[in-house]
Amino acid sequence: YVIGIDLGTSAVKALLVDRDGAVRGEAAREYPLYHEHSGWSEQEPEDWVEATVEALRQLTASAGIAPDEVEGISFSGQMHGLMLLNGDGRPVRRAILWNDTRTSEQCRQIERTLGSKLLGIARNPALEGFTLPKILWVRQHEPDVFAQARQFVLPKDYVRYRLTGALHMDYSDAAGTLLLDVAEKRWSGEIREAFGLSESFYPPLVASHEPVGTLLPQWAGRTGLSPGVKVFAGGADNACGAIGAGILSEGLTLCSIGTSGVILSYENDKTKDFAGKAHFFNHGKEDAYYAMGVTLAAGYSLSWFKKTFAPEQSFDRLLEGVGDVPPGAGGLLFTPYLVGERTPHADAAIRGSFIGIDGSHERIHFVRAVMEGITFSLNETVDIFRRAGKTVDRVVSIGGGAQNPAWLQMQADIFGASVVPLENEQGPGLGAAMLAAYGCGWFESLEECAARFVRHGDPYEPNPDAVRAYEELFRLYRSVYGQTRPLSA
Ligand code: XUL
Repeated sequence: YVIGIDLGTSAVKALLVDRDGAVRGEAAREYPLYHEHSGWSEQEPEDWVEATVEALRQLTASAGIAPDEVEGISFSGQMHGLMLLNGDGRPVRRAILWNDTRTSEQCRQIERTLGSKLLGIARNPALEGFTLPKILWVRQHEPDVFAQARQFVLPKDYVRYRLTGALHMDYSDAAGTLLLDVAEKRWSGEIREAFGLSESFYPPLVASHEPVGTLLPQWAGRTGLSPGVKVFAGGADNACGAIGAGILSEGLTLCSIGTSGVILSYENDKTKDFAGKAHFFNHGKEDAYYAMGVTLAAGYSLSWFKKTFAPEQSFDRLLEGVGDVPPGAGGLLFTPYLVGERTPHADAAIRGSFIGIDGSHERIHFVRAVMEGITFSLNETVDIFRRAGKTVDRVVSIGGGAQNPAWLQMQADIFGASVVPLENEQGPGLGAAMLAAYGCGWFESLEECAARFVRHGDPYEPNPDAVRAYEELFRLYRSVYGQTRPLSA
C-alpha cells in the first residue's frame, strides 16, 4: 500500500491506496482556523501534526493492516502558507495561511521593488495570499518574532519535517512563494537579494516524487506504520489534484468546483506567457508546469444562495429541475463576486449582482443563474488560456460541480469542450498517493500510474445550440464587471 495525506485548510485527510489504485481506507481530522482580525487567517502548526498522526492511526487501525504493508507515504498541501522556524526547527509563530489578506501593502512594496522582473522570474503577480508578502509582513510588524526565524517552509513541509526530521520544499509548492525562478527551478538570487534574505533561510528544493526521508521511530507506535516507511516530498494541492485527475499531458484541463473554483491546464513549455493573467506554477510531474485561474466564490456562491433562500433544503432538492430551465435562466444573469474576484480581475472590492429579474422568475431561475454565473467566471480562465494559444477541448471536472449532470452539461456548453467526470474521484490525496506509488518504483512514470489509478467517466459533449446561446450570454456577463465596478467602492 501507499498513503496519500492531503493537508487541507479545514482538515487533513489520509487515503490508503493499493497497487491497483483502489482506495482501501480513509480517515480525516479537522482543525480550527484563527481569524484574530478581519482578513487574518492562521493555523496552529501543532494542530496539523497532531491531526495527521491521529488520521494515520485511525486509517491503519480501521484498515487492519500490518505496519510493514505500507511502503511509502506522500503529501498534498494547502499552498502559500508561511511557517517560520527557529534554529531548533520550532515554529516562532502560528502559520499565516493562503486566504489571509493582511499583506496588500507588502504586495505593493514587492511590485515597486521588482517591477516587471517579478513576472519574468516568479511568473506570478504579487497577491496577498502568496508567501513572500507574508515574510515581509512579519519582518515589518513583528521584528522580535522575525529575529528568531532561521528558515521558512510551507504547511505540508513542516508536517513532513516533524514526521521525518528532514526539511525540504518541492518545486510545485515553492512556485507559490514568489521566491522561485519558476522556469529554471531554483531559488531566485535576484529576488532573495532584493529583499535582503539569507541563503540559509531557504529549504533545499526537491522534485515531488523524490524520497526525502523515512518515518522517525518515535511515530511508529502511534501511526501504526513501520519506522522505515519511505516518505516522498509531495506537492501543492492544485498540482496533486491535477495528478489525481490524470492531468499529465498537453490538451488536458481541470475544472474543480469546491468552495472556490479552479481551472487548470497542463503545460510543457516553461516559457509560455500568460502576462500574469493566470498563475503559472511548476507541476508535480517533473519538468512540467500548469497555468491556473481561480474563482474565489464558486461553490460558495451556491452555498450562500441555499443558506439565505432555502436553508431547510438539501442541495439535491434545491437543484431539482435545474436542467429543465433553458440556457440563460430566463434572462437572469449572476456575477459570483461575493468575496471579490481573483481571475481575471484580481479585485478584492468588487461585489456580485443579479441582473434582469422578471416577475415570472421562480427560485429555480435564480439557482440556474448562480450556476451559470460561477461557470462563466471559470470560463474567463478558459478564455485566457485559449487567447494564449492553448487548446481546451477536454476538461476533467471534479468537486461539487461534477456531482450534478445538469451542471456537467452546462460546463460542456459554456466551455465549448467535452467535460468528463471521474469514476473514482478522490481529490489531491490520490495525487499524493500516486507520487508515493511512482516514487516507490511501482510504475515507470506518473502517466503509467494514472493509466491504472485514474478512470475517466463518460464525457458530456457540448450542444451546438447551447454553445451559441452561451457565447452571446458570456459577452453580456463580461460587460457586467466594468458596469458594476463603480458601485463596489
Ligand atoms: C492557490 C490557492 C488555493 C490553495 C488552497 O493559489 O491559493 O487553491 O492552494 O489550498
